[in-house]
Amino acid sequence: MSRIVLVLNGPNLNLLGKRQPEIYGRETLADVEADCRRLAGELGLEIEFRQSNREYEIIDWIHEARGRVAGVVINPAAFTHTSVAILDALHAFEGPIIEVHISNVHKREEFRHRSYVSAVASGVIVGCGTQGYALALRRIAALVGAEAG
Ligand code: DQA
Repeated sequence: MSRIVLVLNGPNLNLLGKRQPEIYGRETLADVEADCRRLAGELGLEIEFRQSNREYEIIDWIHEARGRVAGVVINPAAFTHTSVAILDALHAFEGPIIEVHISNVHKREEFRHRSYVSAVASGVIVGCGTQGYALALRRIAALVGAEAG
């Protein structure tokens, strides 16, 4: 059984820590990746951590995950609210999917309240800051039966 978890990040998340820190905090995406790698080691998981500003690239990565990756953690960023194409790609992935949003999108503008991705997600973690990624990894570990500790 695969122990690989694909952690996908959508547009503008490369600027995490610099972009609107009052909303997204001061931790960078590199910090988040380091935290995920540390936790994955504890959980007996292997991490592939990626970010793209291009919708097609995220779709290609989801396709490549089919039959190879145990689970997907995805923060689709603004594509959350627009991308039927990412939803369709995720429908073709057979393992668990956890959707993460650093901010509480439900407290923000109305256009952020709708997520295409939630329709296919096993779970959604919203408004827990960058800690949401660790929570998502723990959930994936539970769902795929990985050993904790
Ligand atoms: C986000 C929320 C989205 O609405 C926004 O477009 C982002 C980040 C979050 O993590 O809170 O870029 O997904």
